[in-house]
Amino acid sequence: LDISLDDTDTRVKASLTLTKNTQENADIVLNGENQTLLSVKKDGIELSQDDYTLTDTHLIIPNLAERITLDIESRINPSKNLALEGIYKSDTIICSQNEPEGFRRITYFIDRPDILSSFTTKLTGNKTQYPLLLSNGNPIERGDVDSKTHFVTWEDPFPKPCYLFAVVAGDLGKISDTFTTKSGRSVLLEIYTDKGQEERCWHAMSSLKKSMTWDEDLFGLEYDLDIFMIVAVDAFNMGAMENKGLNIFNAAYILADPKTATDSDFKNIEAVVAHEYFHNWTGNRVTCRDWFQLTLKEGLTVFRDQEFSSDMNVRAIERIENIKRLRNFQFPEEAGPMTHPIRPESYEEINNFYTATVYEKGAEIIRMIHTITGKEAFRKGIDIYFEKFDGMAVTTEDFVAAMEEASGYSFDTFKHWYHQAGTPTVSIEENYDPKKETYALSFKQTTPKTPETSHKKPFTFPIVVGLLDKQGQALAEKTDIMSEEIHTMTFSNIKSPPIPSLFRELSAPVIVDFTFSDQDLAVLMTYDKNPVNQYEAAQRLALNLLNPTILALQKNTPIAVPAHFLDTLGHCIENDKINLALKAEMLTLPSVISLVEPMQVVDYDSAIAARKHIVQSIATTHAPLFLKWVMKLSEKDFSISPESMAQRRFKNLCLSYLSEAGDEYLKLIYTHYKAATNMTDQISALSILCQHPSSETNQALEHFHTTWKDNALIMNKWIAVQANSSAATTLNNVLHLESNPSFDKKNPNKCRALYGVFAGNHAHFHAEDGSGYIFLAEKIIDIDTYNPSIAARLSTAFKKYKKLDKPRQAKMKGAILSILNKADLSKNTKEILTKTLA
Ligand code: ARG
Ligand code: ZN
Repeated sequence: LDISLDDTDTRVKASLTLTKNTQENADIVLNGENQTLLSVKKDGIELSQDDYTLTDTHLIIPNLAERITLDIESRINPSKNLALEGIYKSDTIICSQNEPEGFRRITYFIDRPDILSSFTTKLTGNKTQYPLLLSNGNPIERGDVDSKTHFVTWEDPFPKPCYLFAVVAGDLGKISDTFTTKSGRSVLLEIYTDKGQEERCWHAMSSLKKSMTWDEDLFGLEYDLDIFMIVAVDAFNMGAMENKGLNIFNAAYILADPKTATDSDFKNIEAVVAHEYFHNWTGNRVTCRDWFQLTLKEGLTVFRDQEFSSDMNVRAIERIENIKRLRNFQFPEEAGPMTHPIRPESYEEINNFYTATVYEKGAEIIRMIHTITGKEAFRKGIDIYFEKFDGMAVTTEDFVAAMEEASGYSFDTFKHWYHQAGTPTVSIEENYDPKKETYALSFKQTTPKTPETSHKKPFTFPIVVGLLDKQGQALAEKTDIMSEEIHTMTFSNIKSPPIPSLFRELSAPVIVDFTFSDQDLAVLMTYDKNPVNQYEAAQRLALNLLNPTILALQKNTPIAVPAHFLDTLGHCIENDKINLALKAEMLTLPSVISLVEPMQVVDYDSAIAARKHIVQSIATTHAPLFLKWVMKLSEKDFSISPESMAQRRFKNLCLSYLSEAGDEYLKLIYTHYKAATNMTDQISALSILCQHPSSETNQALEHFHTTWKDNALIMNKWIAVQANSSAATTLNNVLHLESNPSFDKKNPNKCRALYGVFAGNHAHFHAEDGSGYIFLAEKIIDIDTYNPSIAARLSTAFKKYKKLDKPRQAKMKGAILSILNKADLSKNTKEILTKTLA
């Protein structure tokens, strides 16, 4: 490749050498979009327009010989590229995003992941505007073209699919470090960002070095080039991208310091840096044969980053966060119009399949394989996978085959997880026999019909169950693998009726259906030695109360919160043996999403009201305890250690409960807002105030704006807390925010902060008058004209269409049709919305 970079007129010369892999007569069919073809040469001879066929999407050159060379020159305009795929401008720099199908917007090429090529890339550009010219691999030559222009040539020794190609040009600052691999090679590490922001990259750098060490220790995987670069950019459709040797990141996943980043920002940065780094082996060295295999690299890499985060932080808390993500995003996705197996059978637009199912559920499938094989055989399976497939483009079957070879376990029935969608429900019954002293659990799985198969074969999965006696003493733990529709697990030598701790750590991505007494749940909350299941018990206890409360509210007969429930929570708040982050999770009631999920007709209003009713009752009953904890935790020093994060987490949860105990506490929240020394405390207080619109809210919002208006990333938080507000005026405020200088509809982070968060604000998005639907539809129509990926992503907000009450359904339908009726709607948005109405 020979690329002359320019903001509006970039010239791309591609010289390809192609070898024919078939005896048959064949044409060369190259993908290419959004560019102007300037010339084509075949074996050095310029072709005339009659010699090839050019369409909006393809360049077809007939009669491929055994071996030919093609020289293709085209022109692209990075400034006009608002889709942010291919080569585009982000603020002052030029960068690229090619996964999955962006490379075809750069040049004409066979844009599919199983075409692995060796890339040599010469970048030429203006010296002042683009002092930095980066691509994959190692720089092999640099020099001046003339007094104003220079060039750098990069060579990537590893053949790669074009989706891993990257280019960056600009005038950026950087930080550098080195890493010595286990075998003693020294690797230069560089992180690039806007000048002046360099010092905010050190957390990302330290996360990178930890990831490199971890991958060597756990999997024996070393980095393979002499240089590893990360570039932070402002405008990016997703989180980040694993381009070989040159990762490109959404700046939100790089920049951090205590004043400006929250604890979750710190943790997300650690996880995303690790995720992209881990792709160097799982994704880059071994890649996907086609995009149906996306979970091959994504499910596996998410599993790897989850394990990394668990080793760096508190394992149980990580697992709880993953389970929450699964329940709040993946389960609803799978129950909605976009339901698909982790290895989809078909797609209109592959960009729409970078989903919670492919990523998060994909990781759950790998986790189950890990549970079934055990740690050692899993590691052996990974070794076999790389021995066999390094440098190749393979399938999920190939991965599973490596695991079979390593473990001797047959994954035949397990593989249904790859091809069947739907969240199984596992109904459980218990049977204690006092004479035989046996305890039996019978499990029955059912999965709702989904489009890809009418007849579901039973799934295979591990069931991990613990038993406690009624005093909380641990009795046993057992792992079975269930592969039939029904399964029985039997424990012997059980002297009295026990309490089961089911699907420990959610050993399979299923809905566990079992009725526990409140009493048993209280025992589990206190004594289960598995902290994830202490959390699960707390969630179930809350559900035992929330579900009847919702029904009561629907019938207009509100019920009181029983004393024993409040007592149990009181004990939990006081229990010093529970880690503070775990305590915060245990005391957070199940999300509104998880409350409406099982409903035939979703009723957000009642779910929100029921939750609020119970929260207020907990708050008023335990206000003195919450206050005590706030005092106790307010004095703690700041660090980003897990302990320190846990303290802030619990303190801020206590403050949020206090805000529900009465408006008299809003002054206290405001005091905490003003006293905050870090972004976690500051934004948490602001967000609490936004749920209680008051003069304190306005003062804090104003103050926050004055303080941070020049920092784009922080202003996204300011936008988000307002879009998420319970205030009656929220939609109006959102409309106002659109014209705030901090907002920019061309920037995906800002669209997510304003429109994405609003779409998740159930009370307002699902407003009875349909105003939320109409508003979002208008935004989607507009955004679709320049950034289809983001428009399609926002369109998934309509996923509850089929389950709405009739009046809302009619309103939502109108909104969806207004989008579908638009001429030239992208196939991204069209696919999502057509499936929504179907
Ligand atoms: N491979 C990237 C990651 O997992 C995500 C790229 C997504 N790109 C897209 N256009 N959907 O980090
Ligand atoms: Zn990934």
